[in-house]
Amino acid sequence: MARVFVTREIAGDAIADLRAAHEVDIWADGTSLPRAELLRRIATADGLLCMVEDRIDREVLDAAPKLRAIANYAVGTDNIDLGSARARGIAVGNTPGVLTEATADLAFALLLAAARHLPEAAGSVREGQWRVWETKRWNGAELFGATLGIIGYGRIGRAVARRAVGFEMTVLATPTTPLEELLERSDVVSLHCPLTPQTRHLIDAAALRRMKPTAILVNTARGPVVDPAALGEALRGGWIAGAGLDVTDPEPLPADDPLLDAPNLIVLPHIGSATHSARAQMTELAVANLLATLAGEPMPNAVS
Ligand code: DGY
Repeated sequence: MARVFVTREIAGDAIADLRAAHEVDIWADGTSLPRAELLRRIATADGLLCMVEDRIDREVLDAAPKLRAIANYAVGTDNIDLGSARARGIAVGNTPGVLTEATADLAFALLLAAARHLPEAAGSVREGQWRVWETKRWNGAELFGATLGIIGYGRIGRAVARRAVGFEMTVLATPTTPLEELLERSDVVSLHCPLTPQTRHLIDAAALRRMKPTAILVNTARGPVVDPAALGEALRGGWIAGAGLDVTDPEPLPADDPLLDAPNLIVLPHIGSATHSARAQMTELAVANLLATLAGEPMPNAVS
């Protein structure tokens, strides 16, 4: 029996399979795992089930002499130092495929909500400010037939493109369409690329200045793909019309972060994969990754 540390309470039933086979230690405090606690609990762990918010770097790996398997509860693995894990012979796995549709749905929800000012409009009703049916207030952009630019044409980017068919949108995607051209032609730009040194601040001031003043930016990928200071400036200066973010830098975004004062901005708490079905399947894949590796078998969803 091995020892597995799980850094958050997780959805779905598959965690019972892990408990049946191994000793499972769960950080069930309902708060972000403090770094010191991670370093303390990883010291005796053979397996780790961690979240995107947990930074698994060399310091953590050095503190984990027994660690054989890391199952990231996400498809993105930018929170893990993959090179250092590989050098130590630690298998790293993710949860691909099962959150594609959920995340694509959320990207579309954000783009519709931002285009039609849904948060402000709903807020006005809730706050008793809606007095009369108006013809000039809350008017937004029509998405039917608009041009959608997708940066990162992997599983999720393609799922967003499939949804765009119903809206008869023209879809542009990198790398087939060069980034500069995509930014200039799109009415909506939706980000679906992984976070790498090449994509960090890919959407910076220069990129935002290329976009149409009527355009909307949607980010369901990773917060640092967008330069937050430049985005705040773009929204305040009218370089673009609005933005919908499911991911931010940092996460969680502090309530007093200056970005939150920017106009026409929707910020969500990283809920792209938050459907009952996606989260349950993510647990299944993460548990399968741990069970296989701890049994000496190849990890089914290993990250290469
Ligand atoms: C992922 O899987 O990478 C998401 O961001 C977490 O839901």
